[in-house]
Amino acid sequence: MKALILAGGKGTRLRPLTYTMAKQLIPVANRPILHYVVREILEAGIEEIGVIISPETGESVMAAIGGAFGSRAGFTFILQDRPAGLAHAVKTARPFLCDDPFLMFLGDNLIQCGVGEVVEALAASSAEAVILLKEVPDPRAFGVAVLDGQGQVMRLMEKPKEPPSSLALVGVYAFSPVIHDAIDRITPSWRGELEITDAIQELLRMGLRVEARILEGWWLDTGKKDDIIEANRVVLDEFTERRIEGDTDAESTIAGRVTVGQGSRIIRSTVRGPVVIGENSVIEDSFVGPFTAIGNDVVLREVSIEHSVVLDGCVLERVGPVEDSLIGSKARVRRTGGTRRTLRFFIGDDCEITI
Ligand code: TTP
Repeated sequence: MKALILAGGKGTRLRPLTYTMAKQLIPVANRPILHYVVREILEAGIEEIGVIISPETGESVMAAIGGAFGSRAGFTFILQDRPAGLAHAVKTARPFLCDDPFLMFLGDNLIQCGVGEVVEALAASSAEAVILLKEVPDPRAFGVAVLDGQGQVMRLMEKPKEPPSSLALVGVYAFSPVIHDAIDRITPSWRGELEITDAIQELLRMGLRVEARILEGWWLDTGKKDDIIEANRVVLDEFTERRIEGDTDAESTIAGRVTVGQGSRIIRSTVRGPVVIGENSVIEDSFVGPFTAIGNDVVLREVSIEHSVVLDGCVLERVGPVEDSLIGSKARVRRTGGTRRTLRFFIGDDCEITI
């Protein structure tokens, strides 16, 4: 079994951040989303991993994976010259995939509970594909599946206006090599992309079996700003440990599950977990509230912030309360006058904002 991670694409819904970085590298609880994806795949026992990259962000994706996992598995990076759809990415990866079965994992999706079940289901059954589904309240923004009583897929629809079920397609699939024949038979959709849902639907049309597994744990599709904030909340809630490696002075209060990285200093401040603070950051005369991730080399001075993600190298001075915000790396935000009121930001890298 091989794995194929899709880490190309356009990331238009996460602009302005994705003008300067790959969306799969946006940190959730201070780790790139892609690291969670690779970890899941390694935990499922797969060690031959192909990664689809784009011309714009490929180098940074290679560096992020090589730096963290280079010694643990064999990675093959596959350049997709344009973001022409998930099935196009599989087509591009054909020389790497050969005629082996494979697990496909969208590089911007986070799931709880691992992917082992999908991998095992493909090996144990006569199905040509196994898809992972999640019951969601409003599936209109996703691919939607209709199942029969035995968990077999009858039909798939991409972003239906009137969904026939509440089962959305999670970005994890296991395929036998027959998927390549199905992809060869489909044509681009109305949005000009070769859709993986069309290819799976084609398997059904060919009379082949497609099975589904329902994900009981959480699923986070990090396509938009609020999805990143929510993913940060869920991951911090689940994984944050209390570990203080930096310095905190006697006038500061560190309450609950808070991680403070090496070289960071907390001065006359309150930090209420779950919170993660990276390395060499300075938090001074500030309040950092629950579900906040602060990167490395960040400075917060007279700031109140919660439920937010602050990337490396940011400087925030005299602002707040700040909430539900995603602040790109090296951005500088400061208030020079006026009254304090609640602020919500979605700021790209290197911006400078004075209030
Ligand atoms: P999407 O979120 O569907 O597409 P996108 O990344 O282009 O984002 P947006 O809609 O905001 O413009 O992609 C899901 C995952 O698959 C994501 O990790 C990017 C990746 N991908 C590819 O690798 N190649 C592609 O051709 C496409 C469309 C996506």
